[in-house]
Order: sequence, then structure tokens, then C-alpha cells
Amino acid sequence: MARVVSGIRPTGKLHLGNYFGAVKNFLNMQEEHECFFFIADIHSLTTHPTPADLHNNVHQVLAEHLAMGVDPEKCALFVQSDVPAISELYTYMNMNAYIGELERSTSFKDKIRSQKNNINAGLLTYPVLMAVDILVHHADMVPVGKDQQQHLEMTRTFANRFNHMYATDYFAEPQAFSGGGDLVKVPGLTAQGKMSKSSGDADTITFDEEEKGLRKKIMRAVTDNGPTGPGQPKSEGLQNLFDIMTLVSDTSTVAHFEVEQQNGTIRYGDFKKQLADDVVKFVSPIKERIGYYKQNTSALAKAAKIGQEKANDSAQKTLKEVREIIGFKKFY
Ligand code: ADP
Ligand code: TRP
Repeated sequence: MARVVSGIRPTGKLHLGNYFGAVKNFLNMQEEHECFFFIADIHSLTTHPTPADLHNNVHQVLAEHLAMGVDPEKCALFVQSDVPAISELYTYMNMNAYIGELERSTSFKDKIRSQKNNINAGLLTYPVLMAVDILVHHADMVPVGKDQQQHLEMTRTFANRFNHMYATDYFAEPQAFSGGGDLVKVPGLTAQGKMSKSSGDADTITFDEEEKGLRKKIMRAVTDNGPTGPGQPKSEGLQNLFDIMTLVSDTSTVAHFEVEQQNGTIRYGDFKKQLADDVVKFVSPIKERIGYYKQNTSALAKAAKIGQEKANDSAQKTLKEVREIIGFKKFY
């Protein structure tokens, strides 16, 4: 059984891409491994959210993950700021992270460009905090996408440097993990590539939408002018909708429309209506459960409490050992 750590940024509402690209991996991993999944609320302070936004976002993300089946009994689902050991270890780890290497990080360079007026020290040391998130639980595996590979490389650098500095082999090297299967990339509805909250409301299928609006959005999804004859290749927009259908519909339904497309007899209206039916069928129960958790603060609190306890047990043990390695000795 491996130890797994993954951080979830509390930004906005989850969409179908987040579900199939991230949350579904969590559901699989919690069955097999010792998992620590956390809501990265300390990280999110780099963007200066208001206290109300910060809290609402954490509340939303926690409710969504519980609703989607992340089980607080099977994993540690916790809020980063509930584990003070993380902040303490972050202080220590900052001492052996060098300014030069932090400045060279791609994510920092991106932020310098995108938020010119808020280039704070937290952005610079983001990779240190992320390394601590991972190392504090001695993770072997970190399920992250390509954009996070450099952070993981830096995590290994900090771990090795700590070991070298204190002549120990205390921290092992964590590895990136793709979830065990093929990486799923869920396309959006507007043929602009992957579904992403940054590509706008018309592109994404989120879990809190009213059925009517959701159906309308799918009926309006980008396709093309219609079939021109048998054996024609699919346009990008049409292929995207087929890809989404593969995720939410029965294989026989997908096969039926594949044949019609091949024959050039497919009617996009019928195809989209079927897709809308199946998306609604998929989204509705999750939407209902999100509503339940958002209202039921005691269920939410119970889950966060269990997660906090598990994460603190693990993090405090690491912190105690690190303090001894560093040479903090008590005089009393
Ligand atoms: P967004 O692109 O909407 O801003 P995030 O970057 O917050 O989403 O992604 C959170 C998690 O969801 C990451 O693990 C990311 O790889 C995954 N994810 C996001 N969009 C997709 C998608 N369209 N297909 C597959 N996985 C995705
Ligand atoms: N940096 C990650 C992201 O932007 C979130 C994150 C923070 C994380 N700490 C982590 C992911 C630790 C994995 C492990 O998506």
C-alpha cells in the first residue's frame, strides 16, 4: 500500500473534466492506498481571496468531493490550514530552498506575467509549501498532471537536500502518478480544447446546473453543418461530443450513434438530445448530494474533523522527527 498525497485548489465549481480527470482517480486510489487529499487553502492565499470567498470555496470543494464519493473513512480528506505542522515544516524547508531555483520555476514566471501587481513571496515559495504538503506525509505517489511535474522535481530536490544537509535518508523521493490508467482529457462544449473553467460557462458542464440550462447548453454545443455523406471524418466539435458521450452513456448508445455517423445518417439534434439525457442522468444524483452536503454542515464538519485528525497524526509525527534531525532540543 503506497502513500498518496494530492492537493485540490479551492477555485470555483467542479466540472465534468475535474471529475473524470482527477476525482475519479481519488475514488480508485482510496480503495487501494493510504491517501491524503487536501483542500489547498493556504496556497490559495497567494491570490488574496476575501475571507468570505475563501471560506465559501473551501465549503464548496469539500461538499463536492464528499458528494462525488471521496470517503473520509477510506482516506484523509482534510483542509490544509487545519494542519499547523504543515506551516511549521514550511518555515524550516524555506531555509534550504534557494532564491535562484525558485525564480526559475515555470509557475512563478507565469505568475509574474499574469499577476504583475501581486508578486508576493508566497508565490515564490509556492513550490516549498507544495513539497511540504507531500513530504509531511512521506508520500510515495502524487497524482498530478504535466503542469505540476516541475513542482514534483523540486520536491525531490528539497527532500534530497534535506537528507544531504543532515546526513540522513529521512525523506524518500515521491513520484508523479497518472492514476494508473490512460490520462483522460475531457473536451469542452465549444471546441476550444479541454474543458476548463477558464474557457467560459458555455464550455463546461458543472454539477450545480439547472437541468434546463444544462440541456440548452448541450443543444448549443459546437458541431458542424451536418453530415455530408457516409464515411466522413468527424469535425473537432462532433468528436468532442462523442468523447463526452463515451464517459456518460452506455456503450450501446455510443455504438448506435457511431454507426449513424459512419453512414452519414446521424441527426445532430437527436444525438445531442441523447447526450443531454445521459449527462443529466449522470450529473443529477451528484448535484443532489452536493446540495445535501452544502446544507448539512454537521456532515461536512464530521468529515473535515476525521480528515484533520488523520492528517495531524501523520504530520505531527513527521514534524517531531524533523525537529530532532534539525537539532532542536528541549531544555525542559
Ligand atoms: P481548470 O482547467 O478548469 O482550471 P484545474 O486546473 O483546477 O481545472 O484542474 C483540477 C484538476 O482537474 C487537475 O487534476 C486537472 O488535471 C483536472 N482536469 C481539469 N480539467 C480537465 C479536463 N478537461 N480533462 C481531464 N482532467 C481535467
Ligand atoms: N499545485 C497544485 C495545483 O496547482 C495543487 C497542490 C498543492 C498539490 N499542493 C499539492 C498537488 C501537493 C499535489 C500535491 O493543482
